[in-house]
Amino acid sequence: MIDGDVFINGSWVTRSAAQISVFDRGFIFGDGIYEVIPIYNRKHFLANEHLGRLDRSAKSIGINNPYNQAQWMEIVEKAITTIDSEKQKVYIQLTRGVAPRAHSFPDNITPTVVVFSDPLTEQTEVQAQAGTAVITLPDIRWLRGDIKSISLLGAVLASEAAKAAGATEAILIRDEMVSEGASSNVLLAVDGGLISPSINNLVLTGITMLHIKKLCNEGGISFSEQPVSEQQLRDASEIMISSATREVMAVTNLDGKSVGDGNCGKLCSRLSELYRDSITEFLAS
Ligand code: PDD
Repeated sequence: MIDGDVFINGSWVTRSAAQISVFDRGFIFGDGIYEVIPIYNRKHFLANEHLGRLDRSAKSIGINNPYNQAQWMEIVEKAITTIDSEKQKVYIQLTRGVAPRAHSFPDNITPTVVVFSDPLTEQTEVQAQAGTAVITLPDIRWLRGDIKSISLLGAVLASEAAKAAGATEAILIRDEMVSEGASSNVLLAVDGGLISPSINNLVLTGITMLHIKKLCNEGGISFSEQPVSEQQLRDASEIMISSATREVMAVTNLDGKSVGDGNCGKLCSRLSELYRDSITEFLAS
């Protein structure tokens, strides 16, 4: 049972006492945005980048960001102290706020802020080596995947279908092109380098993916963002997914067929190593 306190609009309250009005537009319309920040050794990793995206998501839907970066950092740092885990994921949700139900934006509305932290379960060495099974599904989501919206029904249904198929993620395909995972970005190994679907309105710019891109640039591994077809996905020698909570993970089975030799490939092993090293370096700094 996780029992860390929850931040609601300026106050820290116990989980059982944490309450939001049923008229909150997040509850009624899914009218809000969110972020997930990974924590290692009780230190936030890439928090500036996550908070930057939170601000961009808020602006893109006309929600006033109530806090500046320093204030958000203070809340994130306090959230880390509320649970007894070295590895955590801090969840931040910002909704338009509470108002009588009407679709268009109310005047002078105050946003609702909720923050809490949960333990982060990292993959073990054995799990990392074995990789994970993924299915493909049509991308039925809306056309603004670039906004980290709390309206996640498309992703929820895709994740549930993946689970029912014995997989852990669904890679979403629109018009025969790969968009992203239901809750991750997709990376393919092609000719010794990495390719990732172009960042556009259909895809979330993953903070983890951007970090991997930086590690590739520093490590002399080519990284390109380009349109990726479903066929390229099926032909790839290695497939990986990335997110704040999954880090970089090998996809070793796609739609019931082995990818490569069915184990974490060479490039994925290298990237996982670079990723781990970057966290170690960050923790030492
Ligand atoms: N999801 N694409 C989608 C649709 C996502 O939901 C996520 C992350 C990503 C990867 O983004 P990042 O590397 O910044 O975590 C890509 C989070 C982890 C979640 O919903 O829990």
